[in-house]
Amino acid sequence: MQSADLKAVVTGGASGLGEATVRAIRERGGRAAIFDLNAEKGAALAAELGEGVSFHAVDVTDEAAVAAALDAADAAMGGLNMAVNCAGIAIAEKVVGRDGPHDLGRFRKVIDINLVGTFNVMRLAAARMAANTPNADGERGVIVNTASIAALEGQKGQIAYAASKGGVAGMTLPAARDLAREGIRVNTIAPGLFETPMFEGLNEEAKAELAKDVLFPRRLGRPAEYAALVLFLAENPYMNGALVRIDGGIRLP
Ligand SMILES: NC(=O)c1ccc[n+]([C@@H]2O[C@H](COP(=O)([O-])OP(=O)(O)OC[C@H]3O[C@@H](n4cnc5c(N)ncnc54)[C@H](O)[C@@H]3O)[C@@H](O)[C@H]2O)c1
Repeated sequence: MQSADLKAVVTGGASGLGEATVRAIRERGGRAAIFDLNAEKGAALAAELGEGVSFHAVDVTDEAAVAAALDAADAAMGGLNMAVNCAGIAIAEKVVGRDGPHDLGRFRKVIDINLVGTFNVMRLAAARMAANTPNADGERGVIVNTASIAALEGQKGQIAYAASKGGVAGMTLPAARDLAREGIRVNTIAPGLFETPMFEGLNEEAKAELAKDVLFPRRLGRPAEYAALVLFLAENPYMNGALVRIDGGIRLP
């Protein structure tokens, strides 16, 4: 699928990796619909990028809200052939900490947003893409989900986050299999450490400490580097059912 032809819903598109994806799609002539809870940042980005980019205030876990936002996005873009799931949250809490066992509600919340939210948008977007007229490669759509290297190398305190991202990684192949007949590809990106608002409060020294195990280049990833991978996955018709790391070679200790 050529970037200029993309009509992409980007969840979490108001910030960080999602924002970079929206910018990259727009730069290459595609259209994007930002799905995000953060109305202030989402609306500002849509206003900055202008025609071809719309903002939809939506919680990815809300069935009715996502369905309604997909209607609006479809109308705004004149169709829908891509979904990029970047909406997510991270918490730090151990299985058993100083105050006792991990709070079950907080565990459920991370699973709900990162895993169930990704699935919710994937299923509703794919159902729409299935009605598209296939392009020259027989494609009706492409889906990119965002896991994390924590899916494979979760660290202390990452039990909920790692479980949610392990779920996202695990959905990749069965989703690609389920949607093959419809001509919809599904790939998942597992980012390493990226310089997004998640790390905004850190000074250069703290960033260098985080990046010390990155092989090369020894720095945090740039959101534009993630976005370039999203576009590669959209454009290369033979990429399907893959979990792709982008992490400068780091393996979390
Ligand atoms: N930054 C990293 O180093 C890194 C590494 C690995 C994986 N990731 C993953 O990449 C994705 C993007 O991360 P980021 O660093 O850009 O984070 P970010 O906090 O900058 O952006 C996440 C966006 O998701 C939105 N969001 C959160 N919950 C939502 C919900 N229920 N409905 C709709 N929108 C919601 C937020 O408002 C925010 O705009 C996340 O899934 C994160 O887990 C990030």
